[in-house]
Amino acid sequence: MTAPHAVSATSATDPSGHGGAAVTLERVTKTYGRVTALDNVSWAFRRGSFTAIMGASGSGKSTFLHCASGLDRPTSGTIRLGETDLGKLKETALTELRRDRVGFVFQGYNLVPSMDVQRNITLPLTLGGRRADSGWLTEIVHRVGMADRLGTKPSQLSGGQQQRVAVARALVTRPEIVFADEPTAALDPRTAGHVLRLLREAADATGQTVVLVTHDPTAAAWADSVVFLSEGRIVDELARPTAATVLNRWETL
Ligand SMILES: Nc1ncnc2c1ncn2[C@@H]1O[C@H](COP(=O)(O)OP(=O)(O)O)[C@@H](O)[C@H]1O
Ligand SMILES: [Mg+2]
Repeated sequence: MTAPHAVSATSATDPSGHGGAAVTLERVTKTYGRVTALDNVSWAFRRGSFTAIMGASGSGKSTFLHCASGLDRPTSGTIRLGETDLGKLKETALTELRRDRVGFVFQGYNLVPSMDVQRNITLPLTLGGRRADSGWLTEIVHRVGMADRLGTKPSQLSGGQQQRVAVARALVTRPEIVFADEPTAALDPRTAGHVLRLLREAADATGQTVVLVTHDPTAAAWADSVVFLSEGRIVDELARPTAATVLNRWETL
């Protein structure tokens, strides 16, 4: 399965300011003891863009995602979701922001084993005391191809199906931004392609901003642009990536 090129592959950085950015990082540093996992990183993710973040193991990809999504707080610097400064939020407000405005997809699916597909998908709404908009729920359930499996438990599903449920769960609140950390690392190439196509569709069909952490050039080629991390810094950006150009750039870093 090959990745289609995005029509509007402009830089993820918004030259006109932050008005068009879904998430903005300004001089973000994160240290763990003596380790500097993120080193003075500034970046803006344009609304509706699909960005892949690549880098060697230990380069700071997960730390970047955790800070940008409000799962963790930086040691210094500012992160904004739209106009909201995450550093100004107390824990409860930050938890609610993550639940209502951000979608997450992880390598390990993280579904609740005791809940069927429908309850897993609607969990972010249930936790927020909200009801599913039935039209939207129907659309995403069809998009991910799970309409006839709503009563099934995760243990009865393949890895690819479980990840598609996780994508539906990430989209159910219509989040402004979806963060995916190595979502296809455990999947075969064909199944991985299905999951990546869903992320591509989230950006193209409904304008979600997508940030994908991956070490796979084929996965990165689904994005509008690729950002390369090395030792906690952004060292390069590649627009309109193909697997070949990503691999080439990766090898010369
Ligand atoms: N919770 C933590 N405690 C201590 N060191 C950490 C922690 N999380 C990450 N690190 C360190 O920060 C650096 C970046 O890690 P990480 O963001 O997980 O990289 P990647 O996802 O690219 O593999 C590594 O040196 C890692 O060992
Ligand atoms: Mg990681």
